[in-house]
Amino acid sequence: MKRTPRSSPQSTKPQRTVSIIGTGSYVPERILSNADLSKIVETDDEWITSRTGIKQRRIAADDEFTSDMGAKAARAAMEQAGISGDEIDLILVATATPDMVFPATACFIQTKIGARKAACLDISAACAGFLFAVEIAQQFIMSHTYDTVLVIGAEKLSSITDWTNRNTCVLFGDGAGAAILRHRGGGTHGLISTHIASDGNYADILWMPGGGCKTPITRENADDHLQTIKMSGKEVYKQAVNSMLDAAKIALDKAGLTIDDIACVIPHQANIRIIEAIAGRLKISVDKFFVNLDCYGNTSAAAVAIALDQANRSGRIKVGDYVLMVVFGGGLTWAGSVIEW
Ligand code: UT7
Repeated sequence: MKRTPRSSPQSTKPQRTVSIIGTGSYVPERILSNADLSKIVETDDEWITSRTGIKQRRIAADDEFTSDMGAKAARAAMEQAGISGDEIDLILVATATPDMVFPATACFIQTKIGARKAACLDISAACAGFLFAVEIAQQFIMSHTYDTVLVIGAEKLSSITDWTNRNTCVLFGDGAGAAILRHRGGGTHGLISTHIASDGNYADILWMPGGGCKTPITRENADDHLQTIKMSGKEVYKQAVNSMLDAAKIALDKAGLTIDDIACVIPHQANIRIIEAIAGRLKISVDKFFVNLDCYGNTSAAAVAIALDQANRSGRIKVGDYVLMVVFGGGLTWAGSVIEW
């Protein structure tokens, strides 16, 4: 029997503009400095600063979890947006460190912020997850499925850090950032273009091999530190520069803008040398980049979300500015997004 397709709801409804109407962030109180780390592994402030730009990072308390940090960032974003939990239709949490494998950390956050009618799910795209979640949120809003989406990037990386490995333990920190996305009728403010991409061929250069069904948690696997982050630093570095440049160029191209139109670039906060390399290749000053990795290290999916909130609240980005966000992470995954603020 020939099926008669149902008419798409989009076809009769106007194109929507999706805006970020509120941002928030949270970082734990405890500061771990480079000097503190030099007491744990063989390293020093000079090496960490010159190779990464990181001076300190925040570490969550033992009883403080990804959902706690995510909920605090979400509340700040809701307050700025002037919305209540009941107005949220969907919660997307980008994280590599969920409270547990299931249920989704988004469900725990739903309860903490009282978003009773929201659908909840986690996004697994490592450090690039926040922009993957933004793109998914935008599609849901543009298709008229939802009006208001809460997007969170939250991580307790200290829980999967190998504190005996100086190659990685100096890099990471904990924290959360959030944004409320909502359709806005008329006007040009909002998300203009987003490009997300992945390449699974490089999965093994940045991953946590233990903890899933392939390598479950056993005493032996734990002794081998398989439930911690493994990274081939130099290879990841190379891929990060090339992929973020690619994402930036494609997002700008889709937006019909050039890098000279951009008032502020908010990049993934992994390494100041990566940011400098990208600035050099784009032929722009590094001053155009919002950088906070000196204070927080690499907080994976939370990094660009925290930076966006800080850039917003500090006045570094202003209404009418074109803002470019670029991210990169395990998977490999990478993304770029252009917003008119
Ligand atoms: O969020 C996802 C994206 N992640 C990233 O983008 C990270 C990308 N990679 C990087 O940022 C850099 O590759 C690192 C910061 C991880 C490493 O910098 P590097 O310039 O690539 O250093 P390296 O790994 O080649 O190590 C150079 C030397 C080695 O010693 P030898 O073999 O030359 O004697 C390391 O053992 O530095 C040594 N080293 C350290 N020394 C003091 C490695 N870690 C440390 C340390 N303190 N913490």
